[in-house]
Amino acid sequence: MGARFALRPLSPADLPAVRKLLSVSLPHDRADLVAEEKLFGGDGVRSGQTIGAFVGDPGPGAELAGLLCQAGRWIKLLCVAPAYRRQGLGTLLVDRARAWARPLRIFDHPGNYLSPGLDVRYEEGHAFLRARGFRPVGRIENLRAPLLDNPLVTPARAKWLIEAAARRGYTVRRVDSSNDAEVQAVLDLVGTHFSPVWALEVARALGRQGGLELPEGPGVHAAFVRNGEPVAFAAHDGNNRGLGWFGPMGTHIQHRGQGLGEVLLLACLLDVVSRPEGGVIAWVGPVDFYRRACGAAVDRQFVVYEEG
Ligand SMILES: CC(C)(COP(=O)(O)OP(=O)(O)OC[C@H]1O[C@@H](n2cnc3c(N)ncnc32)[C@H](O)[C@@H]1OP(=O)(O)O)[C@@H](O)C(=O)NCCC(=O)NCCS
Repeated sequence: MGARFALRPLSPADLPAVRKLLSVSLPHDRADLVAEEKLFGGDGVRSGQTIGAFVGDPGPGAELAGLLCQAGRWIKLLCVAPAYRRQGLGTLLVDRARAWARPLRIFDHPGNYLSPGLDVRYEEGHAFLRARGFRPVGRIENLRAPLLDNPLVTPARAKWLIEAAARRGYTVRRVDSSNDAEVQAVLDLVGTHFSPVWALEVARALGRQGGLELPEGPGVHAAFVRNGEPVAFAAHDGNNRGLGWFGPMGTHIQHRGQGLGEVLLLACLLDVVSRPEGGVIAWVGPVDFYRRACGAAVDRQFVVYEEG
């Protein structure tokens, strides 16, 4: 089993083959568009491995039949090209992952993930995981807000909400990523009051980690009180940069209930109207908030798996 496949670490030079493999293997995701970030975009404190399985000799020009991308105990990506399925290659790659860390968990890697679990439509993936000793440990949804002809998502409504926030003493605007003190204050708010992983995503949304340049500028909006301190934030393109996914967002506990989340959400959604997946709100908690604020509805469902 697997003898005809040779494994080796993938490098950025393999990206064209990786994109091709991802688009045929994971058709419900835009993995091809964000392949570089997923494979080589950094995983915070975790270290991992990114391995390609080639048909025969893995030298230049060899065909890429499958890949594994792992950070700590998370499998971030695992796929096998349709032509090479049911030949033991998926098992070979999972065995590699098991040798690196256990118990393995599938896809929902904090800070750099393609999707927050395995999309319910990947039937082969679900059958494979169950056969290889994984069990479902949760279900997660992505929402999506319609961005065209949506009366809740208009520049006029955003302007009105920004003015209403101003009357309550808040300045709502895009974060200036060239202002180091402002960036640090925003990252401190996120890292201290929410989560260090979110700070990583916000830094990426600000363009602080390289990657694609966003046409509108930094993908983070914040609400500042009179002394210039940020007290609420919302980001887009902090994960899967370029697709237009929304999140994360947070309002300091002392400033909740003032409409800041809604206005910041709207500012972000207006930025991503023409992105390939603009309006996707990934890995959501407060579904009702998003439904009321921007008419978001369930878009995709995922199952989270863990070993054991
Ligand atoms: C999931 C995937 C990686 C499996 O790769 P693979 O190389 O075909 O897996 P293996 O050959 O090692 O399969 C091992 C076992 O899993 C189970 N399995 C795999 N595919 C299956 C299918 N389509 N239907 C039922 N069981 C299946 C079987 O028990 C199989 O053993 P068997 O062939 O001896 O019956 C591949 O189907 C794939 O890339 N799917 C799309 C991407 C995806 O879902 N990725 C998420 C994986 S977590």
